[in-house]
Amino acid sequence: MCGIVGYLGDREALEVLVDSLRRLEYRGYDSAGFASIVRSGGANDLEVRKAPGYIDAMASEMERKGARIGIGHTRWATHGVPNQVNAHPHCSCDGTIAVAHNGIIDNHTTLKDELASKGHEFRSQTDSEVIPHLIEEYYDGDLEEAVARAVERLEGSFAFLAIHRDHPDRIVCYREKSPLVLGKGAGEGFIASDVTALLSYTNSFLYMEDGETAVVKADGISVRNRDGDHVDRTWKLVDWRPEDAEKSGFKHFMIKEIHEQPRSMHQTLAGWMSDEDALPPRLVRARTIKIVSCGTSYHAGLLGKYLFERYAGIPTTVEMASEYRYADRTEEDSLVILISQSGETADTIAAAREAKRRGMFTLAVTNVLGSTISREADHTLYLRSGPEIGVAASKTFTSQVMMMYLLSSTIGHRTGHIGRDEFRKVKDGLRSAIRAVEKVLGDTEAVKAQAEWLSSAHHAFFLGRYINFPAALEASLKMKEISYIHSEGYPAGELKHGPLALLQKDTPVIALISDDHTYSKMLGNIGECAARSSPVLVVAPEGDSEVSRYTDRILRYPWIDPMFSPLAISVTMQLLAYYVADLRGCSIDKPRNLAKSVTVE
Ligand code: AGP
Repeated sequence: MCGIVGYLGDREALEVLVDSLRRLEYRGYDSAGFASIVRSGGANDLEVRKAPGYIDAMASEMERKGARIGIGHTRWATHGVPNQVNAHPHCSCDGTIAVAHNGIIDNHTTLKDELASKGHEFRSQTDSEVIPHLIEEYYDGDLEEAVARAVERLEGSFAFLAIHRDHPDRIVCYREKSPLVLGKGAGEGFIASDVTALLSYTNSFLYMEDGETAVVKADGISVRNRDGDHVDRTWKLVDWRPEDAEKSGFKHFMIKEIHEQPRSMHQTLAGWMSDEDALPPRLVRARTIKIVSCGTSYHAGLLGKYLFERYAGIPTTVEMASEYRYADRTEEDSLVILISQSGETADTIAAAREAKRRGMFTLAVTNVLGSTISREADHTLYLRSGPEIGVAASKTFTSQVMMMYLLSSTIGHRTGHIGRDEFRKVKDGLRSAIRAVEKVLGDTEAVKAQAEWLSSAHHAFFLGRYINFPAALEASLKMKEISYIHSEGYPAGELKHGPLALLQKDTPVIALISDDHTYSKMLGNIGECAARSSPVLVVAPEGDSEVSRYTDRILRYPWIDPMFSPLAISVTMQLLAYYVADLRGCSIDKPRNLAKSVTVE
């Protein structure tokens, strides 16, 4: 979950590190730190600066001393509270080696005891601090060799960068189950947890794989695998633009990304057109489908369940990735779909490995080229949403949902479950959903007005039925994670089986309705809530007049075929959560305690 960066070249290293690390803050933002090697009085000095809080706060106070090599880290605390001592980089006893680490060292207690018995003194409560001490223990003038010996002792998931005061010409990096990407320019080398950190400097990347060590020098980057053999993989050109990872005049990344949805949805659709012919036959042969994912991606999967059953006639179950491993069943002929925008979520990756172990065909749906999940799954479909920086997922959710429509209808068409007309209707429906989303984003005043009264709530319920039940879960997650209002998403019919007891005059209910077979039942549920004096906000299609008999709080979305209403509704709900959070003065792009890539289980 932490973000790590490294730079070596002719530029002022700290400038590059601060700039690129800022773009990785979505991975963690409890504390930050930098280590660089500077010349002082004819000798090399290893300078380390670290502090709790956001990068900007410390970056403005750091003196630039012309370092040409350095590493940086932004932290999401796992072991030890976020403070200055626990912030990375961590150093060896003699202060010559600095390490920035992302991941978890499972056997750190054993290693700490062993190293302490040899005289090593530990300053922090982190697991990461064992790495520089281990390297120090094995160091005999050769940093690469010391790193190689150290990693043999480490267990867990880890990507780290190491520099040594006496080797100002190199950064040694290692990857094991945590992402790490190398970038190259003319006479300079970059390392980061994610390409978005480096888009302003290069678009030429090499995704490291587990067990690989890279030595980054100004005149070239060399990579070796676990056996010590040179790795000669093709560098990838990434076509994301630097401005995709900028706020471009918007107050937050999240609102920028919400507004990008007509484009990202188009990109998903256009990308699908080029991918659909190359779908592996195994997808079409699936007798059952299991969708495995977390958080927002799980909600996209829940929506997918209705779509696979409707358009492909394939029984589908959806499981939270963190629970998947506890299920004993092995489903023969089952297709396992792993949805993860980042492609780095540890729970989903663990589920992918478990599914493969059970002999199942795995399909990854992700936004990130070269991500771990894309390398581990049997086949990958890319969302093509463009980089998403805000911790709360927005545009990747609508792309994931589109992918569920596209994949389910294509499989259904190929197996003969739906005919050509219905298949065509799905793509037409998605195109009209994009137009509806454009309209939603074209006038946000009504959403802002509803956000005003909602912003003082302490609790809220989001209700929906059928395909708008997952939309209600997602709307609720958006509200709670960025505004900190406690909220629950429920299938509307389930409310009376318990949660109704919580409704009072200050507990808003947000009901998502569409003009389909669930409509009259939703109206009944709205009536039940209103009768308990709850203020009810109904999110309804334009042209519907019935709802005004139940409430005068109504948010309209453009009328579209109800089968595609979750897309227009979800964007409306993203805006609602955003404006509520903004009115409450919340840290929208970096909500407390969260991180975008959850790389711990
Ligand atoms: C979304 O708003 C959340 N921040 C979170 O639930 C996220 O969807 C979840 O961690 C899964 O991430 P992934 O899609 O990258 O696997």
